[in-house]
Amino acid sequence: MIPEFSNPSVCMKDPQRVQDIMESMAKAGSNTVQVISDFDMTLTRFAYNGKRCPTCHNILDNSDLVSEECKEQLKELLDTYYPIEIDCSRPVDEKLPLMVEWWTKAHALLVQQRIKKDHLALVVRESDAMLRDGYQLFFDHLHEHSIPLLIFSAGIGDILEEVIRQAKVFHPNINVFSNYMDFDDCGVLRAFKGELIHIYNKREGALLNSGHFEELRARPNVLLMGDSLGDLNMADGVQDMENILKIGFLNDKVEERKQSYLDSYDIVLVKDETLVVPNGVLLYLT
Ligand code: C5P
Ligand code: MG
Repeated sequence: MIPEFSNPSVCMKDPQRVQDIMESMAKAGSNTVQVISDFDMTLTRFAYNGKRCPTCHNILDNSDLVSEECKEQLKELLDTYYPIEIDCSRPVDEKLPLMVEWWTKAHALLVQQRIKKDHLALVVRESDAMLRDGYQLFFDHLHEHSIPLLIFSAGIGDILEEVIRQAKVFHPNINVFSNYMDFDDCGVLRAFKGELIHIYNKREGALLNSGHFEELRARPNVLLMGDSLGDLNMADGVQDMENILKIGFLNDKVEERKQSYLDSYDIVLVKDETLVVPNGVLLYLT
């Protein structure tokens, strides 16, 4: 269909279905399309030269903005809860309260550190966070074609915006749903705003933001991108959906999780650190 589908990273359970969805979306035209993407480990790289890249949270966890003692505590949380996040042998309803526990404990620790808003740009600049190869084409192409991009992240909104801004691709067609920091009058972190978004409540987050989807009513064709099975619910607020094409990055625990990813994502990209395939799909649709 498109040359990028011959890449060795690409797996599909039903290529014919993918072709049908793409043809239907291309026929409807790019002015009917919206893109909804996760951030951490979807728009950003999972690894570079064999080394793990940080999530929004990890950018802070690894920075000078938190004390050594706090670093250890955050690392302990990561070592406890990340294996649970990616364990596909445990049902979501069992994992959900544990994920709430992780986010809540981590946010409480970060708040204790009295992090200053002014310091965020520097820690992002000094971090190892990287957008996936092909990001420039991805962001610029969506902007040029006036296709709205919703970044829906259980990470930290202030941090992810900074990553995108520093890469010079934070265009006006982007909206973000995420956990935003609440700073006091002196610019010191005092809490996180609004309802917590964690890995398994993106459906609730989507429904809370119904106004956004109402505005995009004329765009019933959705390209969804994620790296977790929880990301599949990001489009639950889309109104009058006609087609949805789901692209999933399978970064970790590949053998254990491949079947469940193939069952739920239309296109699965195995250990693919690039946006080459999503870009190929977008070029086809526009
Ligand atoms: O953008 P996205 O929704 O992917 O952000 C969530 C990611 O943040 C999760 O995959 C989780 O592993 C990571 N996380 C973290 N530290 C925390 C909480 C979540 O690295 N304290
Ligand atoms: Mg993610």
